Amino acid sequence: MASESGHEVLETNVGWMILLVVLLVSVGGLVQIVPLFFQRSTTEPVAGLVPYSALQQAGRDVYVREGCYTCHSQMIRPLRAETERYGHYSVAGEFVYDHPFQWGSKRTGPDLARVGGRYSDEWHRIHFNNPRDVVPESNMPAFPWLGRTPVDAAGMPARLRALSRLGVPYSEEEIAGAAAALAGRTELDALIAYMQVLGTHVRTAR
Ligand code: HEC
Repeated sequence: MASESGHEVLETNVGWMILLVVLLVSVGGLVQIVPLFFQRSTTEPVAGLVPYSALQQAGRDVYVREGCYTCHSQMIRPLRAETERYGHYSVAGEFVYDHPFQWGSKRTGPDLARVGGRYSDEWHRIHFNNPRDVVPESNMPAFPWLGRTPVDAAGMPARLRALSRLGVPYSEEEIAGAAAALAGRTELDALIAYMQVLGTHVRTAR
């Protein structure tokens, strides 16, 4: 009889069932996730990776604030259809200085992991001001205020300091000079600087 094996007891007792399923999923999760913290391929920066400049980092902050990740991913999967369209697939070592990373999974718009250098600064300027001016069928919102808004220069040294505590190798000079580096720049300048660096490190490394 099945009950003698104990199996029936488990399958008819929701308490045991929940407990054992949670245990099984936890062990499976740990086995997959924990080794990643210790593998060099996932924890070491790719050759040629440098931290974002103060201006690029300010642009990244705008990217997060405006929720660009709700429509754009930054993660090219190792599939033919993706690499043909976007370029070399993403590797973990490209993101070790990203806190938090912007991989995302929603693609209303194209993946941006390697958008750096694909368009001119001027193209981005027009596109962010009103995407329809360069892509008539676009449903991306316009961000016209970015060009009128100065970047938060005063707060940048503290933000770079926080990142350096998380392991991003900023020098003391870079942190001290961060506010001066942003003087007179707009949020649009910063966002474009961020767009133009995305995904360029692997190309540099090649
Ligand atoms: C509602 C969804 C949506 C949001 C939010 C959005 N985008 Fe887009 N984005 C799109 C779509 C759709 C396209 C493709 C059409 C076009 O180029 O405008 C696009 C295109 C782009 C492109 C051109 C990419 C390429 O390879 O051609 C860039 C760069 C871009 N978006 C950056 C941003 C940034 C930065 C933000 C945040 C400030 C943002 N987008 C917010 C939907 C969105």
